[in-house]
Amino acid sequence: MSVAGSPSKTSTIASPPWTRERIEGRVHELGPWFHNLDLQGVRTAPDHFLHDYPAAKWQAFAHALPADLQGASVLDIGCNAGFYSLEMKRRGAGRILGIDSDEHFLRQARFVAEVNGMADEIEVRKLSVYEVGSLLERFDVVLFLGVFYHLRHPLLALDLIHEHVARDLLVFQSMQRGSTNIEPVKDNYDFWDKDVFDAPGYPRMHFVERQYAGDETNWWIPNRACSEAMLRSAGFDIESHPEEEVYICRRREGVPSRSLENG
Ligand SMILES: C[S@@+](CC[C@H](N)C(=O)[O-])C[C@H]1O[C@@H](n2cnc3c(N)ncnc32)[C@H](O)[C@@H]1O
Repeated sequence: MSVAGSPSKTSTIASPPWTRERIEGRVHELGPWFHNLDLQGVRTAPDHFLHDYPAAKWQAFAHALPADLQGASVLDIGCNAGFYSLEMKRRGAGRILGIDSDEHFLRQARFVAEVNGMADEIEVRKLSVYEVGSLLERFDVVLFLGVFYHLRHPLLALDLIHEHVARDLLVFQSMQRGSTNIEPVKDNYDFWDKDVFDAPGYPRMHFVERQYAGDETNWWIPNRACSEAMLRSAGFDIESHPEEEVYICRRREGVPSRSLENG
């Protein structure tokens, strides 16, 4: 900390360097980890059931996002340990805000940013997706990756993102289960027309009453048609589908496809 007006008395308390040993110790203290990051050769989750996650996932859709995000603002919802925030920074993004409802992961995100020399460039804050209205700010790119199926109220979350924080791009990823078919759905059906609901490609959410994959934070798991229909319904046009779980969307101005008042 420097003392204004008295440079000769300036003293700097330099943080010790992030040696491998210090990183290992801190990784251990901050565990368990979901993001399996490589911090100067130290793996944060070497036994991850998805292995090199999320790096392997990112490799499958990284090409679908602009390589140059110079100056773009990014909101990373459910940032966890901050893997995607770092990748956005590496592409030149300007302001980056990572939010997560779990302080445990935010501690990891702060540490990861520090080890990567980006502590001053990536802000992280404890905030639920349901509270994004309190940010009073829109972002050029909103990342909403791996959070949707963890929500008890997923469509509300999409509506809030549309209403309050998305300006242009939404990058969406959800676990999906069930058919990958897309059933052509008419605008309306007769009351007695029941068969359509049995079509595997009808938009369908699978409700998890207790747990799925040993995780009681899994609430609703859509099939592919449902992910796509809900994105459209919340006011996001799907521009590309570069990976089976990932959609690159653009925010459509105006109200969703039908009045929210009826909901
Ligand atoms: C499966 S991880 C996904 C992490 C990261 N976005 C990714 O794709 O690798 C889900 C993250 O969402 C966070 N989360 C769950 N519910 C949330 C909520 N209501 N608001 C914000 N974050 C939430 C969890 O704490 C966790 O960090």
